[in-house]
Parts: sequence; structure tokens; C-alpha cells
Amino acid sequence: MSAAVDAVGILGIGSSLPERVLTNFDLEKMVDTSDEWITKRTGISERRILEKEKAAYELGACAAIKAIEDAGIRPSDIGVVLATTSTPDYLVPSTACLIQEKTGAANAAAFDLNAACTGFVYGLTVAKQFILTGFCKYVLVVACEALSKVVDWKDRNTCVLFGDGAGAFVLGPAEKGFGILDSYLKSDGSQGRVITLPCCHMEEEDIAKRAGKAKNVLWMDGSEVFKFAVKAVTDAIDGLLEKAHIKLEELNLIIPHQANIRIIDGAAKRLKLPDEKIYTNIHKYGNISSASIPVAVEEVVRAKRVKKGDYLLFVAFGGGLTWGSTLVRWNR
Ligand code: ACO
Repeated sequence: MSAAVDAVGILGIGSSLPERVLTNFDLEKMVDTSDEWITKRTGISERRILEKEKAAYELGACAAIKAIEDAGIRPSDIGVVLATTSTPDYLVPSTACLIQEKTGAANAAAFDLNAACTGFVYGLTVAKQFILTGFCKYVLVVACEALSKVVDWKDRNTCVLFGDGAGAFVLGPAEKGFGILDSYLKSDGSQGRVITLPCCHMEEEDIAKRAGKAKNVLWMDGSEVFKFAVKAVTDAIDGLLEKAHIKLEELNLIIPHQANIRIIDGAAKRLKLPDEKIYTNIHKYGNISSASIPVAVEEVVRAKRVKKGDYLLFVAFGGGLTWGSTLVRWNR
């Protein structure tokens, strides 16, 4: 057991994106779509795609190694490796175990958490408890996704939306009043069938929806998810501000899950947020599921857009259905 601590902060950050870029113009040659449609309806110009022979956990390990170096700790100091993914390379061994081996975090417990695109927000909340209770001093949270492996490349409704990438945080003890202050987590399993990615079993209802009855590919009712997402973002922001007794005006930056620029712009408009208070990078990467928030945070930090004491809010939504948010007072 480590000593129980007052606050848990972000001590190290890393990200890793595949080199291969797939543009909207490349997609025009693959399905009946256009750069104009994709840009106007989603805000996406290009996305990164992992080489076929590579595994998602390799991206995750690369992001994790950078985060460990950034935190200035040894891999052996890590007590828990928690991987968030809805695209695991293997169900067994878990992505977290594969990353543990690659990073040399030999003393850690390791497990995966799947809350689809909300996974990283869920993961931070779970990870924080291990440190707060004194179970261990450091937790590595790695979001690791390769949507390109589960997308139906013949389905224009989904294949234009997603990309691959990984991001990681090392969490550890922080100064009181700083770090991860609070979280708001929700789910509604009754609406879960609007995004499905079957694995070991597939029901007739889901088979019927898929073109050519394609198995093991992602299917989504885009407009239903869109309607849910608009409400979820507002609920997750309002709910957390109320819970944490923080005013919207006090936030320095909101980092939302990057699924569709219209969802982000709609939320910004409703909240009357100026553009500089909401971060977007969807044009470069598309939707990289649970990895979109840590990848965005890494960019924001590298661009020196945050300073100690700033209030940041991460907000996400996705399959399950799940949604949630995390409030951080920047501790570095
Ligand atoms: N290119 C050209 N036309 C297209 C394409 C495309 N790539 N995709 C769909 N269309 C067509 C449709 O077939 C439809 O044509 P029709 O009117 O002749 O039937 C038309 O465009 C409009 O389709 P809509 O689905 O109404 O388009 P919409 O404006 O809703 O945009 C989109 C679709 C981008 C999918 C949007 O609904 C969306 O972003 N939804 C939310 C997705 C999301 O947030 N997912 C996050 C969770 S994912 C996870 O957790 C793994």
C-alpha cells in the first residue's frame, strides 16, 4: 500500500498516431462520397490509419512510453496499467497486459476498460480511485484504438468518420486543490443498439441491419447517435459544473471528444462559448474513439495553451450508450 493522498494529478502525457494519412480525396476513390460532403457534415479532412500488419497495442505502448518518460518515473513504479479500448487486438490477453509487457511496467496490475468513446473519461475516474485509496502511487491510463480494423470500408455512412491513434497519461499524487477534481459518468444501455460492434455473439436484430450481413464490423445509426450526442454533451458539462460548484466562465478550456464538428459547434453555441475555449482537431484525425481526448490534451500542452491552475473540462460520449466528463485543475 502507498500512503493515501489528497489529490491525483496528471504527471505525464504521451500520444502516438500512425504515419499513414487517408484523405477525403482518397475516400472518394473507395466509396460514393466527396470531400465536400465529409467536410461539411463532419469537419473531417483526413484521418490516420494503422498499417495492416501493426497492432493497436503497439501504438498504445508508444504513447505510454512517452507518458512515463514525461512523468520522470520508472516503468517499475507503476501500480496499475489501465487500457481503454473498444478495438482490442485480442480479448485475451488484454490490451493492458500487452502494453505492460512492452513498457516494462512489471509490477503493475493490468486490465482493459471499455466504455467506447467515453472510455478515457471513465478510465481517469477509475484510475484516480487506486491512488486516492493508497492502493498504488502511479497509474498508467492508455487509450488505444484502431477503428480502421473494424470499419466496413464499403459503408460510406461510417468509414469516412473514424481513424486510429493512442494517447496516455500517468496519474499520481498532486498538490491539494489541483489535478482531477471531479467526474460525471452516465450510461443508458436501453439505447445501446444504435452503435454496435459484435464480438463473440451476434443477434438477428443486428445481422439484419448490416449490408451483406457483414459480421464484426461497426454499425451505427448516425442520426440517432447525433441527437443523443448533442444532449449528452450539454448534460455532461452542466451536470459536472453543478456537481463541482464551478461556473462555466471559470473554465479555461473544454476538450471534447472529436466525433463531428457540428456536435462540438452546437454545444459551443448553446453554451455561448467563444471559439478559443473549446479545442478541436477533428479535421486531422477524425473520430479516434477513447484516444481523442488524450491526443488533444497532448497537443494543447505541447502548444503551451494551458498553465498551472487552469480549469480544463474533458467531455465525451459514445457507444453503450455512455457519456461523461472530467474536471481537471492543471497541476503542472
Ligand atoms: N458521403 C456522401 N453521402 C453520404 C455519406 C457519405 N460519406 N454518408 C451518408 N450519406 C448520405 C446518406 O445516405 C443520406 O442520403 P439520403 O438522404 O439519400 O438517404 C444523406 O447523406 C444524409 O444522411 P444523414 O445520416 O442524415 O447525414 P447526417 O447529416 O446526419 O450526417 C453523420 C451523418 C455524419 C454520421 C452524423 O449523423 C453524425 O456525426 N452522427 C454522430 C456520430 C457520432 O458522434 N458517433 C460517436 C460515437 S461512435 C462510437 O462510440 C464508436
